[in-house]
Amino acid sequence: MRIGVLGTGVVGRTIAGKLRELGHEVLVGSRSAGEDAVPFEKAAAHGELVFNCTNGNSSLEALSAAGEKHLAGKVLVDVANALDFSQGSPPVVGLGEGGSVGELIQREFPEAKVVKALNTVNANVMVDPRVVPGEHDLFISGNDAEAKTRVAGLLQSFGWPADRILDLGDITAARGQEAYVALWVQLMGVVGGATFNIHVVHG
Ligand SMILES: NC(=O)c1ccc[n+]([C@@H]2O[C@H](COP(=O)([O-])OP(=O)(O)OC[C@H]3O[C@@H](n4cnc5c(N)ncnc54)[C@H](OP(=O)(O)O)[C@@H]3O)[C@@H](O)[C@H]2O)c1
Repeated sequence: MRIGVLGTGVVGRTIAGKLRELGHEVLVGSRSAGEDAVPFEKAAAHGELVFNCTNGNSSLEALSAAGEKHLAGKVLVDVANALDFSQGSPPVVGLGEGGSVGELIQREFPEAKVVKALNTVNANVMVDPRVVPGEHDLFISGNDAEAKTRVAGLLQSFGWPADRILDLGDITAARGQEAYVALWVQLMGVVGGATFNIHVVHG
């Protein structure tokens, strides 16, 4: 598949690397073209499916640069969190106006099929869940059932077992996915690293 990955941070690069390993044709998007990145617009235009791996406080800017017409009708996997490091670390987790970054993106780009996914785990876990032993869970949400099925398929190709990908419902569930990151940053300090995840156990 042709995939556009918007974002040159550790997440964008990690996801792009995994997708290439799996045989996809990937272009990484950035504000400026570089040796291994193209402008956001070119990456979005290239993708049949697009990943938003930009800073969650700036995702609307990045996606506007990508261009509404290059996102319309496409699956847009939103990995972003809105973190505020102005008071140091751990950051304050913001939810953006409208409840969550995921909802805000869906509202501003109504023709994109936004699927919130992967924002609850560290980049290395996203693309190789086996680095965390045992069963653990990933959450997805979005308004379009077919888009979620496609994303779940892609996540399975990353190594996530189908029954560990929990569909939380429509894009309003992105609130919970993003709010969880406030707990995640605390846990990171307690467990002493970022290679961890949670498992939902029920009776
Ligand atoms: N780090 C993790 O393991 C992790 C885990 C879960 C979720 N996330 C989320 O995933 C996203 C990516 O995280 P990251 O750590 O890889 O990178 P990041 O530093 O949060 O974001 C880097 C990307 O954001 C773009 N960007 C920054 N300011 C911008 C602006 N004003 N306008 C347009 N674009 C702007 C940068 O563009 P340029 O390329 O032009 O510099 C770059 O491509 C974030 O939302 C983060 O919260 C991260």
